Amino acid sequence: MIEEMDGTHEAGLWRVEPLCSMAEADDFDHLSRLLDRPRIKIERKLSFDERSFSELTSNLRLVDDMCSPAAGRTFSEIPTSSPRDWFEPHPMIAEAWDALRRSIVLFRGQPVGTIAALDHSSEEVLNYDQVFVRDFVPSALAFLINGEPEIVKNFLLKTLLLQSWEKKIDRFKIGEGVLPASFKVKHDPVRKSETLIADFGESAIGRVAPVDSGFWWIILLRAYTKSTGDVSLAETQECQRGMRLMLSLCLSEGFDTFPTLLCADGCSMIDRRMGVYGYPIEIQALFFMALRCALAMLKPDAEGKEFIERIVQRLHALGYHMRSYFWLDFQQLNDIYRYKTEEYSHTAVNKFNVIPESIPDWIFDFMPSRGGYFVGNVSPARMDFRWFALGNCIAILSSLATPEQSVAIMDLIEERWEELVGEMPLKISYPAIEGHEWRIVTGTIPFHGMLLVAVLLWLLTAACIKTGRPQIAMRAIELVENRLSKDGWAEYYDGKLGRFIGKQARKFQTWSIAGYLVAKMMLEDPSHLGMISLEEDKGKKPLIKSDLPQRLGTRSVTVDRLYALYDLVQSEIWEEITTASADLWRRREAFVIAVLCGNRFVHREFEAALALVRLQDPSNPSLLSRLGYVQLQIGDLTGAKAPFSMLESLHHQSRGTGHWNWKACGEEQGTGVHRCPG
Ligand code: GLC
Repeated sequence: MIEEMDGTHEAGLWRVEPLCSMAEADDFDHLSRLLDRPRIKIERKLSFDERSFSELTSNLRLVDDMCSPAAGRTFSEIPTSSPRDWFEPHPMIAEAWDALRRSIVLFRGQPVGTIAALDHSSEEVLNYDQVFVRDFVPSALAFLINGEPEIVKNFLLKTLLLQSWEKKIDRFKIGEGVLPASFKVKHDPVRKSETLIADFGESAIGRVAPVDSGFWWIILLRAYTKSTGDVSLAETQECQRGMRLMLSLCLSEGFDTFPTLLCADGCSMIDRRMGVYGYPIEIQALFFMALRCALAMLKPDAEGKEFIERIVQRLHALGYHMRSYFWLDFQQLNDIYRYKTEEYSHTAVNKFNVIPESIPDWIFDFMPSRGGYFVGNVSPARMDFRWFALGNCIAILSSLATPEQSVAIMDLIEERWEELVGEMPLKISYPAIEGHEWRIVTGTIPFHGMLLVAVLLWLLTAACIKTGRPQIAMRAIELVENRLSKDGWAEYYDGKLGRFIGKQARKFQTWSIAGYLVAKMMLEDPSHLGMISLEEDKGKKPLIKSDLPQRLGTRSVTVDRLYALYDLVQSEIWEEITTASADLWRRREAFVIAVLCGNRFVHREFEAALALVRLQDPSNPSLLSRLGYVQLQIGDLTGAKAPFSMLESLHHQSRGTGHWNWKACGEEQGTGVHRCPG
């Protein structure tokens, strides 16, 4: 594992890399080359390499959290001590926990999941008494956040067993890797035994295939690992094999010319005909995220290696395809509007031959000048311009969206609040299909695509936290708190603004309940974001030259070079102290310290790391938080108190200005340095 933590396992769960933009990495590469110049010696802080590893392996999770790129944001934008007065315990929380616990399903005495809805008022149960894989995700996150990982582990293992069933629909054998949409526990009162019965689509309404189940499973396995710090589950043969089976299904070669995954209608959360066949954003975003999660967990052994290579290639192509062709903003819309059609050859601008006349009228008014989003679907001559909430939120969380695109998605939500959020967050898709189009496209399904579903609240909240816009989530949560419990935790709402409880909505829908809880808990303690969010893939970014020896196996040379770089920037700061370039050198200094610090953390050289953190600006909230965590790591509880109470007082001061360090303490791009304004 150490090897992986070292950064050699490029996209590994434990990969640690300082945040740095391409330009900065280039800059520091250049800097590395200056190392030959004569320089002053500084006292090199001794690491405690000698300290026994086992002494320090407790609380691995914290180390990982603080070193992971996601944690970089955690330090910059997320208050370490949560601003509790924002979150007066709402009476709905206790009620929600009660309802969530009542929905737990036991199998041979062990909790293995939660049923979809515990609606006593409805006589028609359908399959809502089953544990749905996708529905269980928010429940699982709630349990993980609450420190109850057992049910999640049981769920992951039980569904894995179901995966290896031989599955047949009529006479057709379904792929080995497919995970069920749902399962239930069958009690045999005579034999006094219990068995699990799974549904792979053979009983589902319309026999829809659960393409999203496998993706959610992988995402959840990573969330479990991240949250508990227990890598042993992901490393078991069963889990490794389960991932490989799922991956062989979605990475298999076909006739496709696109890296996106071809799907039938209704293969995900919208499991009714909604005109999303082809390459729906909901699936592509989950596919991207699951690939990234799998990459972090697959062992590079004889069997895993090939998959790792295939994932890396696919991610590269998929990311490029989605960011280029699914992205729509004002400028892009205008370009499409002016497209020529029937172009031929590699020079074609209108690559998919989209006919501008097919652009729906609504989009011209809907598209604000600020903001953008990933459209619903792209295939030859067919662009579905509809907005889909889950796909866009997952795009933010998986970093399929670039940082600029993530900001633009949040801008769009703000600009088009009424259309996308309404009175009962959040609309699955926008706009609803109506009239003749609804008849043709959906085959007259009972839902008009106007659905507003509370389960999306947790996804929105997580995306808000990641983009530093918690106020958007708070606004949405407030709306939910006005009604959801009074409405008996309805499954979905109808109407343009979501004012009506859905015609066929169940009550006590578990994912509405769990979605609310997760949203509340994440907002209260945003450090939980890490379990469901992935930072930008730094693999795309160049290494700094000093890092190379470490990757080739001689870490001590890297450390020496970094200290030498530190000497160099120090001397330059002194030389340039009165000139405008002093600032640039200070940024370089912060960068070098951040790189060194990261390096020390992963090797558990906490004292050396601590010494480095202390070299930096003492009023910087991100560093204070880092300092406190390191002190906790080495068991110095008293020492940890000081930085945490300083953080708290900084927080109180900033409240006076109406800004906490969510956004106000912007990170200086790439340096790992965060400064509060003023
Ligand atoms: C409905 C939803 C589906 C969900 C199921 C159980 O069929 O469309 O996404 O998983 O109910 O709640």
